[in-house]
Amino acid sequence: MIEDGEEIPLLGGDVTEGLVRVGDTVRRPPGERAEMVQDLLLHLEKAGFEGAPRFLGIDSAGRHALSYIEGEVAGRPRPPWIADEERMLSVARLLRAYHDAVEPFGIPDNLPAPIEPAGLPDLNDPPELVGHQDVTPENVVFRDGRAYALIDFDMARPVSRAREAVNLMLWWAPFGADDDLDPALRGLDRPRRCRQIADAYGLAEADRRRLMGLSISLNERAWHTMKYRADTLGGGWQRMWSEGVGDDIKHRQVWLEANADAITDAML
Ligand SMILES: Nc1ncnc2c1ncn2[C@@H]1O[C@H](COP(=O)(O)OP(=O)(O)O)[C@@H](O)[C@H]1O
Ligand SMILES: [Mg+2]
Repeated sequence: MIEDGEEIPLLGGDVTEGLVRVGDTVRRPPGERAEMVQDLLLHLEKAGFEGAPRFLGIDSAGRHALSYIEGEVAGRPRPPWIADEERMLSVARLLRAYHDAVEPFGIPDNLPAPIEPAGLPDLNDPPELVGHQDVTPENVVFRDGRAYALIDFDMARPVSRAREAVNLMLWWAPFGADDDLDPALRGLDRPRRCRQIADAYGLAEADRRRLMGLSISLNERAWHTMKYRADTLGGGWQRMWSEGVGDDIKHRQVWLEANADAITDAML
């Protein structure tokens, strides 16, 4: 039995409305793949993986009750430590540990169709595991200066490891022109950081070779998907769109195309 109690809003994330903390639990309105996420979190608990919230049950309001994970989470503007190399490496290692724990979970069938526009080109990128797919600074809890847990599994879905590495580098290298990045993330050597992320994760050579091509395809796709979600889902998606996320994606496309070769060279 999940108990009721005083509800403290949890802000800082982009999308989920109605997210609250109650005592040492978090209550989340169910996301698109809520049933899969429930099974996934239960699998991670059984596997002894510490770096994710525990699924505790469903409360009287139909929300997922999860364990609240104490620690440090970056908001905006980004804290100065966001560019720290050791922190970045620890996020890459945490994602790898998550993948090792999640791989035996397999690829669930009967998932609801993804909310995305019709007619997107095939990525030719078969899924290998249930990835997290949203390793933003807001979705990583740090303890003692190291990434301790991933939270917010709303975007989790079957993907390739390379696609997870793209998401990791997007936020932690990060990808984008300095002018488009938070001041705390400017002036970083991105080819070097991508190499370090790839090494800390243990990314296979074949994945390193195709990573930047995949990044470019995914970024292009992200513009269409974000627009579609803003139009059809509204809420936080519409807010992000009206705040200019579409233009950010287009700027990033230019940056990715200009920097792809240097990043690939550094990774090989
Ligand atoms: N299980 C949790 N443990 C600790 N903090 C959490 C937890 N879930 C959410 N939070 C906090 O609430 C913020 C928003 O939650 P999140 O699940 O990322 O929502 P959104 O879907 O809006 O991004 C997080 O950035 C984090 O600070
Ligand atoms: Mg979040």
